[in-house]
Amino acid sequence: MNRSELPQWSALAEHQQVMRVGDLRALFSADTTRADRLTWTVGDLTVDFSKHLISVETIDLLVELAAATGVADRRDAMFAGARINTTENREVLHTALRADSPVHADGTDVLPDVRSTLRAMRAATEGIRGAPGADRWLGASGRPIETVVNIGIGGSDLGPLMAVRALDHLRPSSLKVRFVSNVDGAHLDAAIADLDPATTLFVVASKTFTTIETMTNARSARDWVLGAYGGDESSIARHFVALSTNAEGVAAFGIEPSNMFEFWDWVGGRYSLDSAIGFSLMCAIGADAFDDMLAGFRTVDEHFRNEPLASNVPVLSALIGVWYRNFWGWQSHAVLPYCQALDRFPAYLQQLDMESNGKQVGVDGQPVTIDTAPIVWGEAGTNGQHAFYQLLHQGTTPVPCDLIGFLRPEPARVDGIDRELHHRLLFANLAAQAEALAFGKTADEVRSENVAESLVAHKTFPGNRPSTTITAPELTPNVLGQLVAFYEHRVFVQGAVWGINSFDQWGVELGKVLATRIGAELSDESFDPALHDSSTSSLIERFRAANP
Ligand code: F6P
Repeated sequence: MNRSELPQWSALAEHQQVMRVGDLRALFSADTTRADRLTWTVGDLTVDFSKHLISVETIDLLVELAAATGVADRRDAMFAGARINTTENREVLHTALRADSPVHADGTDVLPDVRSTLRAMRAATEGIRGAPGADRWLGASGRPIETVVNIGIGGSDLGPLMAVRALDHLRPSSLKVRFVSNVDGAHLDAAIADLDPATTLFVVASKTFTTIETMTNARSARDWVLGAYGGDESSIARHFVALSTNAEGVAAFGIEPSNMFEFWDWVGGRYSLDSAIGFSLMCAIGADAFDDMLAGFRTVDEHFRNEPLASNVPVLSALIGVWYRNFWGWQSHAVLPYCQALDRFPAYLQQLDMESNGKQVGVDGQPVTIDTAPIVWGEAGTNGQHAFYQLLHQGTTPVPCDLIGFLRPEPARVDGIDRELHHRLLFANLAAQAEALAFGKTADEVRSENVAESLVAHKTFPGNRPSTTITAPELTPNVLGQLVAFYEHRVFVQGAVWGINSFDQWGVELGKVLATRIGAELSDESFDPALHDSSTSSLIERFRAANP
């Protein structure tokens, strides 16, 4: 049945007519316990939903919608290893990557394989880090590794890149970790310009091991290494590892099977940070910290799996997103980490959310009759404040925001910076922005400051701009795992409510096919412009003219 035909859908649409004339000032003054009543905790995360345009009735109605759309059944099916990714006929078992009890895919417990990969990753990364007692990983000329370069794109880049930056304070200064994703040769060039091949390890991260950007960058990196070793192919074994599900592709590339860290088809690319794809992260933070991150994921998994919908924090977060997307018609969702270390978190969430839920047909292949994923975007606060918050405060379309902050700063690397002072200012900005967004400033308040009447409208803030604040004591590996799992499950719930398959990504295929074709045409003498529209052909011809 179309979602919009459900009685629960109509009930929410009617309820929105009531809520749209309400306002956050009134909701807070009517109930002094509102913040307490609408704040939940999961693990170390304190999630405050009170600054949303919701009442207890809103939550009840949203939970009824979740129940009617089978969110709990779909969740249980996912954890149980059902093939809920129907268009690819796959299980969706990223939760097995951090499970501590057997998980079955196709009747087989996957945990032994998960653990075996984790053990292999531990041994290799300890060798790379030069951990006491570890079998040291040396380059082909016998020198230790000083830089790990992850070559991957999408889920094989965004997750580990985000997490390496988030937990950079745990990285030993003796080891650099870099990321190359773009097929633009400038990316690889910049990443390796100051490196010595003899002390560099390339981590080729690709679930399929066919992605053109990654394979092109990996081949160029291999040429660079071979160039330094006079073409000696045996050097590759000491300077390349692979993270993949495609053992044949890895072998064909020339990477030793023993240097391949495996994961499985039941891990979606954008859900793979805690699989072997986390190898470069493990290099940066060490295997124990990686395990701690997995424990953080598990904490939120257990909550998501067991908590009733009405008090299930990722479920509530997802439903509030549905409320704005479908019943208020708001098109975007901003993620604003008040934490420089999380500066790539919004980019990571863009793939997680938009590649998962940017769908136009339901699981049954029929067009959806409702809107699906919002545009997810964001930037680290306070930088965003000096760029786009003007629109958040006074633009014509409200943008629901998640403001993420920590009560304590990460440990400092250098002496002499008053981190307490910085952190107070940072946190003050988080609190101030959430307050300003929610409550604004009325025209009368502006007037009471003796502002010229001609400026009153300009200086008025409408308020009623909803936000969630998510706080945790400190950004640790465990807390990062909690945060990522929180968003994974939020995305899952929204996909379930909308009745779409959050685990395929057919929408990326057409561009890949056309790029391969056009790639050949850019240097094909017999290029026939009639094969494309006039705009595309003229683009191709402009390039060909500049590159005869
Ligand atoms: O962009 C499409 C996509 O398939 C993503 O889903 C995936 O994360 C990315 O490409 C990289 O894929 P792979 O890890 O197979 O190289």
